[in-house]
Amino acid sequence: MLKASYPYFLANKPEAPNTDLVVTDKYTGETATRVAMADADAIDRAIAAADQAADAMRKMPAYQRQDILNYCVRRFEERFEELAQALCIEAGKPVKDARGEVTRLIDTFRIAAEEAVRIGGEVVPMDITPRAKGYSGMWKRVPIGPCSFISPFNFPLNLAAHKVAPAIAAGCPFILKPASLTPIGALIIGEVLAETDLPEGAFSILPCRRDGADLFTTDDRLKLLSFTGSPDVGWQLKAKAGKKPVVLELGGNAACLVDEGTDLDDAVARIVFGAYYQSGQSCISVQRIMVHDSLYDAMRDKLTAAVKALKMGDPKEEETFIGPMISEKEAERLHGWINDAVANGATVLCGGERDGAMLQATLMENVGSDQTVNNEEAFGPVAVLSRFSDFDAALEEINNSDFGLQAGIFTKDIYKAHKAWDELDVGGVVIGDVPSWRVDHMPYGGVKDSGLGREGVRYAIEDMTELRLMVLRNPEA
Ligand code: SIN
Repeated sequence: MLKASYPYFLANKPEAPNTDLVVTDKYTGETATRVAMADADAIDRAIAAADQAADAMRKMPAYQRQDILNYCVRRFEERFEELAQALCIEAGKPVKDARGEVTRLIDTFRIAAEEAVRIGGEVVPMDITPRAKGYSGMWKRVPIGPCSFISPFNFPLNLAAHKVAPAIAAGCPFILKPASLTPIGALIIGEVLAETDLPEGAFSILPCRRDGADLFTTDDRLKLLSFTGSPDVGWQLKAKAGKKPVVLELGGNAACLVDEGTDLDDAVARIVFGAYYQSGQSCISVQRIMVHDSLYDAMRDKLTAAVKALKMGDPKEEETFIGPMISEKEAERLHGWINDAVANGATVLCGGERDGAMLQATLMENVGSDQTVNNEEAFGPVAVLSRFSDFDAALEEINNSDFGLQAGIFTKDIYKAHKAWDELDVGGVVIGDVPSWRVDHMPYGGVKDSGLGREGVRYAIEDMTELRLMVLRNPEA
């Protein structure tokens, strides 16, 4: 159960100057709890504290950073069900998915604990030319300094963890702005971090209004901006970020191709999961399903039956598969896209109805390639079926998108798998499964409008550190 109110964390300490942010239960719409909101002055103080903490964080030995991360793993295990219930309430996430996310939070911190003690370097031979005789070199990674993190509503724990845990592993202080709709997961992470020996100022977790949060992007004391969220916002932030490097984990309209010879029952089960789990509110949710002609009719029938059978309702009930979208406004937006496509000749195979924030799991076909529900990121429980006969042309069609995060290819042909890997303009190609598949140590991120850089703990640590070279001259060589 949620507490009546939550403080924010400024320089490791809870502060509650107000309870201005109302967090609703996304299923009932009722107030679930209230949260302290940070203003520009609080954000400024947090940045100053992070700046002050940078030296202590840099000097903290790897085993201590590892100990802190392992402590968090233990505490998250102890608070597992509380964390899952919090997600269920604040995000409307079906409780089974919420438990899945807590498991991934623990994975992400555990991986970071492992990585914290293997941030290595390299010896570089320098004597490649007579003028470098007697010189040798080596480089190591040093923390980049205070980091700015902005995390989204759809994975309130794990997508915050993908920034926080690598920062601790790398030795970087940070300030984090969680999504205003779902700040509780990050604040519970804050409660656990506050129990550790992190140096004062090492972390601040500050729910705040987006229009009061400019310092997260513009302040030069912050040496990296890592944002996960919508493409529009992400690219706007990059334009304002000044000299600091920017990592953007943005959206997509992920495609899943089902080639001839695929085991249909397996593909149907995986696509139902990939397209509709947590109501499709994942950047790698299956949105475009492209099926080989030879399987199309059978696939359509099986998929329609499976989607119709999904239980919709209260996310707190164990059997619920489809809960609410994050807000009525978002459900209304997507419902509008469905209706526009229908007005332009598309067929709804199942679903298509909405009640408030509850949008039915919807499967469509005959959707024109110019329709928004096909081209833009749906970020909801909608998928669009189409057929193909030529594998190469289908790969081109997958690439015919402004986005490029992950693609899923069901094929048993290793040459086609390699071709997809070579040709698809995406950050990751998943063979034999849906694009929605992710474990937390793999490189994850997109190209084109889907973003910049990669997360996955080791890759985030690379962004949060810089190479520093030392050259040695031996005059006696
Ligand atoms: C995302 O929505 O960007 C993350 C998906 C995941 O971590 O599974």
